[in-house]
Amino acid sequence: MFGKRTDGPKTSETIAAPKPAPAPVKAKPAPAPKPEARSPDRVEAKSKPSKAPPKKKSEGVTKIDDRSDEYYRVKTMVFNALIDTIDLAQLAQLDADSAREEIRDIVVEIISIKNVVMSIAEQESLLEDICNDVLGYGPLEPLLARDDIADIMVNGAGTTYIEVDGRIERTNIRFRDNAQLMNICQRIVSQVGRRVDESSPICDARLLDGSRVNVIAPPLALDGPTLTIRKFKKDKLKLEHLVDFGSISDAGAEILRIIGACRCNVLISGGTGSGKTTLLNSLTAFIDPGERVITCEDAAELQLQQPHVVRLETRPPNLEGSGAISMRDLVKNCLRMRPDRIIVGEVRGPEAFDLLQAMNTGHDGSMGTLHANTPREALSRVESMITMGGFSLPAKTIREMIVGSIDVVVQASRLRDGTRKIISVTEVMGLEGEVIVTQDILKFEVDGEDANGKIKGVHRGLGVGRPRFWERARYYNMERELAEALDALEGNR
Ligand SMILES: Nc1ncnc2c1ncn2[C@@H]1O[C@H](COP(=O)(O)OP(=O)(O)O)[C@@H](O)[C@H]1O
Ligand SMILES: [Mg+2]
Repeated sequence: MFGKRTDGPKTSETIAAPKPAPAPVKAKPAPAPKPEARSPDRVEAKSKPSKAPPKKKSEGVTKIDDRSDEYYRVKTMVFNALIDTIDLAQLAQLDADSAREEIRDIVVEIISIKNVVMSIAEQESLLEDICNDVLGYGPLEPLLARDDIADIMVNGAGTTYIEVDGRIERTNIRFRDNAQLMNICQRIVSQVGRRVDESSPICDARLLDGSRVNVIAPPLALDGPTLTIRKFKKDKLKLEHLVDFGSISDAGAEILRIIGACRCNVLISGGTGSGKTTLLNSLTAFIDPGERVITCEDAAELQLQQPHVVRLETRPPNLEGSGAISMRDLVKNCLRMRPDRIIVGEVRGPEAFDLLQAMNTGHDGSMGTLHANTPREALSRVESMITMGGFSLPAKTIREMIVGSIDVVVQASRLRDGTRKIISVTEVMGLEGEVIVTQDILKFEVDGEDANGKIKGVHRGLGVGRPRFWERARYYNMERELAEALDALEGNR
């Protein structure tokens, strides 16, 4: 059924994205002419990395597969022959399985016609690879298939890093050229109805499995399309895993459990990738199954186990710049949906005001994460988000609101050895004059480093006998458990 195409020779840009029909048409002219226009830079840019990395290659590169240069040469040859043979327009009409079947048949034929000598295993991996290139996410596929990778970072066609176990490693994954990479980016974002090209070079999207994707393309990214994927973990870490990893002590985890269960209002603060969302997700495990929980996120990541959960997601503006639904719109709307608790994936703007109001008005047990390096900074960020959101309230009023609504700030951090830790649990006590008073219940104290460079330390209690949420714990009949957990914390002293 696949006649040879008659319309001129194909370039790799046209080939790579047959599925979303309009995309290749757009993508082709965009990335292709650019390198020519800037060819002097390109030669320079190209020769630099190609000279530097080979030395490093054997040292710092994680081999995802053990393919040789010869393999890539054969692959390119077979790939080009395939593209000359099939009609991509027709291929695009097939469902994924039949398309794969079709490609496999043709590739097997090409291999035999061209007398390529390969073992069965090599041939299988070549088939898989070529199918991935034509139909899937190409060289990204083996990385996407692995569940132990937290982030995938592609910095142009030749450089891909991954984060595994908190450490960044360079891999030997490479794309044919930036045009192929751009096409794969395009394929990813077109699945959620977006577009990335020179005129809109920044784009957020999501893979079908829920992984979060960001693309920033030339001319903004100087060394080629830059793709960052925060991989969606199918099995989210639970609080007990965090204990196993040493992110929090047993007693600390018990205190967090009580904080979650007795409906304290919690802010989780930390830097990018410090484990805020993971921690928020693990705290939601202690929400009573009878409660109605509404989650608001920019890209749905949370996986609540309760039966009664409504999940909401913000929406960026469309190509004409209209139709955006902000986090504030969602949080405001939530209040009319009779929630017991509201969970905001990440608080970054004026929605802080609405969240505090919600916390203040009977939706206690609400939670959110926020980007800050210390609990104190977290509170002052909330204040500045409200000020900058255009609410003309005196500073003192805003602080009264903060004190009246937020009970606990949990600080997460990614330490320099790559491990993620809960470094403090802090209570908001009240207002003294115009100053918000806080009290640490526990803190992670660094004792030094072991021989492998891993940071050693303990979660120490700070001798708080009766935290402010004691009454709350009592109300929920958890007073004894809280007392025991606080005692156990002291045991660390
Ligand atoms: N305590 C932890 N120990 C090990 N890995 C963790 C821990 N917390 C989070 N992670 C992993 O780190 C990555 C980033 O976590 P995430 O919660 O998304 O961070 P943030 O929301 O702060 O950006 C995820 O892949 C997650 O599985
Ligand atoms: Mg997050």
